[in-house]
Amino acid sequence: QQQDVVNVTFVRASGEKIKTSGKVGDSLLDVVVNNNVDLDGFGACEGTLTCSTCHLIFKTSDYEKLPDKPGDEELDMLDLAYDLTDTSRLGCQINLTKDMDGLEVHVPATINDARAA
Ligand code: FES
Repeated sequence: QQQDVVNVTFVRASGEKIKTSGKVGDSLLDVVVNNNVDLDGFGACEGTLTCSTCHLIFKTSDYEKLPDKPGDEELDMLDLAYDLTDTSRLGCQINLTKDMDGLEVHVPATINDARAA
């Protein structure tokens, strides 16, 4: 296994697990796009912080280890996401580090494209 490969599993609301991998520095949105993960409507704004469709839910332990706290713009967008939790982040704002290898993130049952509001 290459040094910069980071394994990430997406878990659908149904419980189905989708195993993927990305590279250090990729965002979780990049991982979804590069692996052609079939998540309806995910990443609609292509990472420009205007949609909230890339909402992902982290385990508390993983959430606390994330290198950056959400910025104001991300928090504003998260406010518009459905099924918001205390450990929600926007996938386009999370860049993979080697520490994240084996990460499991939950995809909320419903996504909200804030641009449609
Ligand atoms: Fe739109 Fe992340 S892809 S906010």
